[in-house]
Amino acid sequence: MYFRALREKIKKKKAIIAVVGLGYVGMPLLAQFYKKGFNTIGIDIDEKKISNLKKNEIRSFYFKNLFKKNKIKNLLFTSNFSNAEKADVIILCLPTPLKKNKSPDVSHIKKALVKLGPFLKKGQALSLESTTYPETTEEILLPFLKKLKFNISKDYFLIYSPERESPVFEKNKNKFSLFNTPKICSGHSANCLTIGNDLYSQIVKTVVKTDSTKKAEFAKMIENIYRAVNIGLINELKMLSQKMNINIHQVIDLAGTKPFGFTKFLPGPGLGGHCIPIDPYYLSWRAKKYKFETKFIRLAGDINQKVTNWTINNIIKIIKKKKINFNKCKILILGVAYKADIDDLRESPALKIISVLKRKKINFDYCDPYINKIRYLNIKSIKLNYKNFKLYDCVVILTDHSIFSRNKIIKNSKLIVDTRGFLKNFNQSKIFHL
Ligand SMILES: NC(=O)c1ccc[n+]([C@@H]2O[C@H](COP(=O)([O-])OP(=O)(O)OC[C@H]3O[C@@H](n4cnc5c(N)ncnc54)[C@H](O)[C@@H]3O)[C@@H](O)[C@H]2O)c1
Repeated sequence: MYFRALREKIKKKKAIIAVVGLGYVGMPLLAQFYKKGFNTIGIDIDEKKISNLKKNEIRSFYFKNLFKKNKIKNLLFTSNFSNAEKADVIILCLPTPLKKNKSPDVSHIKKALVKLGPFLKKGQALSLESTTYPETTEEILLPFLKKLKFNISKDYFLIYSPERESPVFEKNKNKFSLFNTPKICSGHSANCLTIGNDLYSQIVKTVVKTDSTKKAEFAKMIENIYRAVNIGLINELKMLSQKMNINIHQVIDLAGTKPFGFTKFLPGPGLGGHCIPIDPYYLSWRAKKYKFETKFIRLAGDINQKVTNWTINNIIKIIKKKKINFNKCKILILGVAYKADIDDLRESPALKIISVLKRKKINFDYCDPYINKIRYLNIKSIKLNYKNFKLYDCVVILTDHSIFSRNKIIKNSKLIVDTRGFLKNFNQSKIFHL
């Protein structure tokens, strides 16, 4: 009865969708359901965020011109979890960071469940989208729902569907949007999977179904570990190539001409973001339960951390080599986001590099058109004015935003350290390729 009723509601877009956790993942997801005509509720513990969303600040970024004269219909932003009672589907998009000892911190999921508990009711579906170690859905969500006396797959439905969208700044057309990126969906049982498939088919072009939540969780891990390990490999090769006086970026371009069996990964000053530096450790931690050591993950983690220190040491060496007075020099950090064309600073290697510059009392400014302020360091970005680059002894490119002009950087800078291969095809004595 509940199964059929929920299927009907979803298919007829009569289901009310609640998204819990309105961050990089939750907001676009909520917007997508809203755009498809669903009645939606966005829940977050961050009161300030909720109040901003009500005032059309962040909201307009995701929802664009969907509201007439600021009149919001069928969309509620709230920090009050009791609103979950109105929902037919509840989707959790909560952070899954690491603890200091690099073990998973799933406390955000657990805390949200406790707050939601009193408002869960028969006939609903609960879907987890957070990235997490295999067996999380079975170990945390399933027992929680069972404790509430739900009969899973008969009167309550449990889904795991990892998020895949690549975050980019709005101005750039995203080739892989939420809609056109195939979405993996798993369910605790066949009924749960059917509900999940009905649900996500409403907002994405292709749903990839799998019969177990563990497989879906593991698949998301593989996607990110694959990236972390390959980035680690290419960063190691970059450190070697420097010793051999070979420009790694040109070598990668050469290797990339092979039309099969080679995928390009680009080196840089280190890993960043909420996924790649973190997720591999989730699987390592789980592997320990099976007395298994994930050596590739450990090695890639070590190298990807080492490359940030290597970058700092090289910047210092280059400045010394150019006989610039260390105590009087002024550096411009160009780009602080963890990768090109986004406004995300989380885990960015720029933060570590800046903190070393501060510790060594080296004068610096930073310029990132997408990140106006680094709040916890209380420093603001300077405006992007290439003519001012002359005022700095050295310009260090840490993020290769596509709006940066190669020619203007080169024309106006006295000395350039490029950590991203942004200027890989320029050979001038003032340009150092790291
Ligand atoms: N950012 C990405 O590009 C990306 C991509 C794929 C997967 N993921 C995964 O998706 C999940 C969410 O990531 P994100 O980047 O959206 O995180 P985020 O930090 O941008 O947003 C999380 C939101 O959850 C809220 N929150 C925290 N605890 C809460 C609670 N107990 N109840 C309600 N709200 C709470 C926070 O206030 C915040 O608004 C993570 O598991 C992440 O690994 C992220």
